[in-house]
Amino acid sequence: MSPNAGSAAPKGIQQYIAARKGGPFQLTNAPYPEPGPNEICIRNRAVGLNPLDWKNLHLGMMVDTWPEIFGIDTAGVVEVAGKNVQGIKAGDAVMSLAGHGGRAGAFQDVTTVPANYACRKPAAWTFEQAASVPICYLTAVASIIKGLGLPLPHLKEPPKEKIPNLDDLASPITPGASQTQVKPPLLNSVLIIGGSSGVGGCAIQLLRDALPHLVIITTNSPAHDKKVTSLGATTCVDRNMKPDQIAKAVRDASPNGKGVDAMIDTVAGAMEGNKEIFGAFREGGPKLYSHVMTGAKMEAPDGVKAATVFGRMAFQTDGGGAAMTRLVDLVESGRFKLPLDIEVVGKGLGAIGGGLEKLRGGVSGTKLVVSL
Ligand SMILES: NC(=O)c1ccc[n+]([C@@H]2O[C@H](COP(=O)([O-])OP(=O)(O)OC[C@H]3O[C@@H](n4cnc5c(N)ncnc54)[C@H](OP(=O)(O)O)[C@@H]3O)[C@@H](O)[C@H]2O)c1
Repeated sequence: MSPNAGSAAPKGIQQYIAARKGGPFQLTNAPYPEPGPNEICIRNRAVGLNPLDWKNLHLGMMVDTWPEIFGIDTAGVVEVAGKNVQGIKAGDAVMSLAGHGGRAGAFQDVTTVPANYACRKPAAWTFEQAASVPICYLTAVASIIKGLGLPLPHLKEPPKEKIPNLDDLASPITPGASQTQVKPPLLNSVLIIGGSSGVGGCAIQLLRDALPHLVIITTNSPAHDKKVTSLGATTCVDRNMKPDQIAKAVRDASPNGKGVDAMIDTVAGAMEGNKEIFGAFREGGPKLYSHVMTGAKMEAPDGVKAATVFGRMAFQTDGGGAAMTRLVDLVESGRFKLPLDIEVVGKGLGAIGGGLEKLRGGVSGTKLVVSL
């Protein structure tokens, strides 16, 4: 039994509701949520703004019914823990993925999530910094394990902290157990399309941690080369060049100039008129293409082994049930840095709408965050 299960919780919260496709948002009152046995309620202190939030608002990309409460990244303080929750307790500062199985997302005072969606907030990170990371990190995990078939060592290490209960997971893990029965591919080089994106900045670091020898080439604007190489990229290619020029520059930067073994496309950068980028693959290589779901149609040439991935897939990988829990260890052992600079675009739920419009207008190497 959680120490505070059943204790008196504050009455009533505010929610930032998208009334219909395209908006507007409305602030409404709602009862304090009741956590399920494996869930926690987090008093949000900061929320991260993600492309999916404005795509949901304006395109209804993953919306079944309106009104809806968006928001997939939060950091805050646990107020109530369900009766089966272990490893996280009331008063803990955490960061978390938000929005699952009918539960409202992060754009409200208090968000309810499965305990394993959250992990302790690294002591050195502010709430705003912590809220900028979860979905990008989880998507990067999925892009590597599901998209490339590559295990991640930090998910195999015994945990330093007690892992929140994993009863509700499809594939519970045994700490330290082998992560995959499938022999991982031999990779010498990978292209990350969108190295300065949030997902890209996480994928670079996870790949560098997993394979120190790997040649990691990225596409991004030159203004971000220094940051992207500081995260572990070997070479950056100017993403503003024509696709055939990008393919050539990537091949030139690859081992022996032969091309790359794999690609992670975090921004659908090789889709539509940009397919010549696939020319950067090594002839005779494994040609793995991990395509982060952005809403763009995925079309890869014959001979390319393509997979579309999304963030929640991380929890469905062997070992991935503890992906969030292990993140804090990665950060505090110096193996994972904040992938992006953050910009706080306002304070209070009412600042979210303006922040999403700013995000929709385009950002470059920056994560927009709202303080609560
Ligand atoms: N399905 C899921 O679960 C899931 C989860 C997370 C994200 N996503 C999707 O993944 C995409 C990335 O998300 P994010 O949060 O990482 O985005 P983000 O940080 O907002 O991405 C912005 C960056 O994208 C880069 N970029 C844009 N077009 C590019 C291109 N053609 N080539 C190279 N770089 C390009 C820009 O680079 P420069 O400034 O250097 O030019 C910019 O820094 C979004 O479409 C998002 O919806 C999906």
